[in-house]
Order: sequence, then C-alpha cells, then structure tokens
Amino acid sequence: MRSQGFTSEVFDGRPVIGIATTWSELAPCNVHLHRVAESVKRGVWQAGGFPLEFPAMALGETLLRPTAMLYRNLLAMEAEELIRANPLDGVVLLSGCDKTTPGLLMAASSVGLPAVMVTGGPMLNGKYQGTEVGSGTAVWRWEEDLLAGRMTEAECAFAEGCMARSNGHCMTMGTASTMASMAEALGMQLPYSATWPAVDARRYETAQRAGQRIVDMVEHDLTPDKIMTRAAFENAIKVNAAIGGSTNAVIHLLAIAGRLGVPLELDDFDTLIGDVPTLLNLQPSGKYLMEDFCYAGGLPAVMRELGDLLHRGALTVTGATIGENVADAPCWNRDVIMPLDQPFQAAGTGTAVLRGNLAPGGAVIKQSAASAHLLKHRGRALVFDSPEAYHQVAADPDLDVDEDSVLVIRYCGPKGYPGMPETANVPLPAKLLKRGVRDIVRICDGRMSGTAYGTVVLHVAPEAAAGGPLALVRTGDWITLDVPARALTLDVPDDELADRRAAWTPPPSPATRGWTWLYTEHVQQADTGCDLDFLTGKSGSTVGRDPH
Ligand code: FES
Repeated sequence: MRSQGFTSEVFDGRPVIGIATTWSELAPCNVHLHRVAESVKRGVWQAGGFPLEFPAMALGETLLRPTAMLYRNLLAMEAEELIRANPLDGVVLLSGCDKTTPGLLMAASSVGLPAVMVTGGPMLNGKYQGTEVGSGTAVWRWEEDLLAGRMTEAECAFAEGCMARSNGHCMTMGTASTMASMAEALGMQLPYSATWPAVDARRYETAQRAGQRIVDMVEHDLTPDKIMTRAAFENAIKVNAAIGGSTNAVIHLLAIAGRLGVPLELDDFDTLIGDVPTLLNLQPSGKYLMEDFCYAGGLPAVMRELGDLLHRGALTVTGATIGENVADAPCWNRDVIMPLDQPFQAAGTGTAVLRGNLAPGGAVIKQSAASAHLLKHRGRALVFDSPEAYHQVAADPDLDVDEDSVLVIRYCGPKGYPGMPETANVPLPAKLLKRGVRDIVRICDGRMSGTAYGTVVLHVAPEAAAGGPLALVRTGDWITLDVPARALTLDVPDDELADRRAAWTPPPSPATRGWTWLYTEHVQQADTGCDLDFLTGKSGSTVGRDPH
C-alpha cells in the first residue's frame, strides 16, 4: 500500500472504506462513476476514513450478450468475495445500469458490512424535434416506425443522438431508474440520490455525503440487515407501484431478500399494492422523464405523499427513518408527482401476479403499460420457440395473425436462453402495424425492458426449458388472460397436456463449461429471483482463517 504513496498515518486504524465501482467504457451508463468515486473519497477523507476504490464487474445492458442478466449473479459473486476478502470496514457501492444496482446490493447483503449505495443518476431528458424523448421507450416506438415505413434509417440515427445526450443511465422509469429508486426506498442510498441527473452537481454533493456517512455507519455498525428488513422491502414494493416501476424490480428484490433471509414472495408484489396508486406521470407509462421527476421533488416527495401506506419507521443509511427523511420533502410539480387523492393511475393498476395451468409458479404483467381492452382477452396462440424464430417471419405479410392472436415466445427463461433476456415485448407483426394495431397479448418466460410497454405477460414460471407448461402450448390453442381474476389459462384438457408432456424432451444445455454452464445448472426460477441456489443467504465478512 505504501507503493501508492499513502502517508503512514492512514494506517492508524481508521476505517478502511472500499468504493466498489462498476465503471467501464463497455457500460456507457456507468462511465462517469470514476468522477462519482472521487466525490465519495472526499467525503470519506473528510470524515476520517481511508477510501480505496476498486473495480467490480461492469454490466452494460446495451452491449452484453446474450443479456446482462446472465451476469448479474456473477457481479454479485465477484463483489461479495472482493468485499469479504479485502480488509475493508465498510463499502460504498457505485452502480448505474440496470443489473449493477441489484448485483451490488446482493453482494453487500451476503457480506453484511456497513454499506451505502450511490447510483450514477439518469441522463438528461432526450430532446428531438421539440419533443421530449425517453431512452428505450422512444427506441421501441422508432423501431415500429421504421418497420411501418414512417421513419427513415437516417432520421432514426439522428434521433438517437438527440435521445442519449449526456452521461447517465436511461432517463425513463426503466429498470435502472427503478432500481435506483428501490435502493433509496429500501433505505440504502441517501435521499434524492436516485433522481439527481448524472451531470448535476448535486449528485456529486450527495456522493460526498455518502462518503461521510459510511464512516459514521462503520462506527455505529449500521449493517444492511438492519436497514433492509421486511418493512423496507414492503416499502420498496409500494414505492415501485407508486412510481410505475419496472417489472424487473420483482426479480431483483426477491433476489436481494433471498440473500438477507427476509421472507418475501412473488405474491407480495400484488397483494401489498392493492391500495397503492401510481403517482408518477413518467414514461413508459406516462409523459415525463427522470429530469422532470428530479425537479418535481424526487423520490422523497413520492414517499411523503404515500404517507402511512409506508412503514415510516424503517431505518435508512442516514441513521434516521424513512419517515423522518421525507417528512418535509416538497413537491414542486403536481403534474409529474400527482397527489394520492388524484393519482395518475388508480390503486390496483400496478404489477399483477397471474397464476393458472400455464404459469403454476406465477407470471407478472405490468398493467400500467398494458392496453386496457386486452386485460381480459381470449385468443388463439401463435407459438415461437425463440424470439429469433419470430423475427424471421415478423415482416411476412401472409403471417397467420390478427389482433386477437396471443403471441407466445418461449425458451427465453433463465435456463433457456440462457439468462432470461428482455425479449418478451417483441415488436408486433408488420402486417398488424401497417393496419394500425399497436398492441396484442404477448406471453413469454423472459423479461421485458422497464422502458417498454404493451400487454405482455412476463416471467412465466416454470420456464419452458425447465419443463413448464409453456413448453406444451401449440399454435392454435386457445389461451385466456384474465388480469382482474389474476388468471392465465391454457384451454387444453389435462389429458391432452399429459400426452404432450410425455412427448416433450428438454432442450440441450446451452453450455458444457464455464460460467454459462454453472449458471444454467444452478439458476433458480423467476418467482424466487433467479439467484443461483448456492448464493442465496449470507456468510458474513470473514472467511476461513486469517493468516495474519
Ligand atoms: Fe443502461 Fe438503460 S442501457 S440503463
């Protein structure tokens, strides 16, 4: 350590604070985290700690194939071991793009040292032709416009630059914004930390304060298990409903809870939000973007508005409770953050958990992103064994599909693809788009980007590759979706399904060695969070014997 030029007094027993950064030029959403880390270091030095920045696996949604989700658990495993094996007293977690936030929270949960998160913040609002355009959400629309001939390639390329015009993660209420909000709602990052834009000076102030706080947290042994209790998870689930957050939060919160041993089930994501309306008018469900959310008052204004719907006594990294943190949080724009008695969407329109003979382990649908007229629907299945197989025929003008069809895309689950990619919201067949149809029911064992929209049933468990009933559906079968009744039914007699099961053979494993093999051998299903079976739980901050 002396070779780095530190003076001897930094080894006087002061708290050593690790700063886990998921910086990488391959993860564009996280590329400014080096600068955020500098601000954290200032705070740590200020408070009398000794900061040491170290890299943790960077996961960028835009580049990683087949999906960044295949590597969330690898980041969690790597960061867990780095935090444990190095002589650290506390850790600051720097994340941004979708999987980096849950991955680092899972790691910190399994180690149990004091930890505070600083997410990297959203990009500034996209601006194109005088309108606000949201990352991800606009791309899905432009993709459809390209297919339908309403936009040229050149127009699309120009629009892209107008959309992604600063550092930061997606500025819609996609998975990154959702998970940043979840970290704040859980009490693991400082108030307002989720919403300051990545380039806003106040993000760097907040990072400096996080550096100061972690030193104090070490002194008071304020560990993640004291913050992320069942009450904190219930708060996060309710906040997710209030902000119209991503369905990916379901999987990530289940996985984090699994690390801590907090009892949390898929059905909690439905039953706990029955009286929680959506307050936030943000894309993809609404109109505005994260920058607007920030100026309207940020997450504390939403949590204050939720009042007694939240467990206000839940402890946070500030050392105070959530209720104390948000007690005076002002709201500056009621069109962005709507009041509880005049919400953006009524209570009960958040994530619904569906069950039935097609999803005995459960499935989810984001009602606020779905079309109201399709929430009760019966249609004939059009089945594809991969998104690629669908894409090959999606532009076929003779495809046997109409607006009542139910598009089934399967073998996209954690084992199947592998990694459970965000492939569920495939674009509609060109034939329907040209007729002006903007939505049909889609069913998948994969996930959907938090920036996407549509009547899409996701996370079907068990997945097709694990022998779930989704593998038994045939084109032409009738499927009934009844969201009000929380039912997803394949209208095929049991004896016929038994015959089909007898004839079904599991697909070959996608890998025989390496991480992908380890992952597919041990990954659990979506209804429990897709963690590896041997990574659930926690094992403290020491391992084996200390040779020193
Ligand atoms: Fe990183 Fe959207 S691509 S947050």
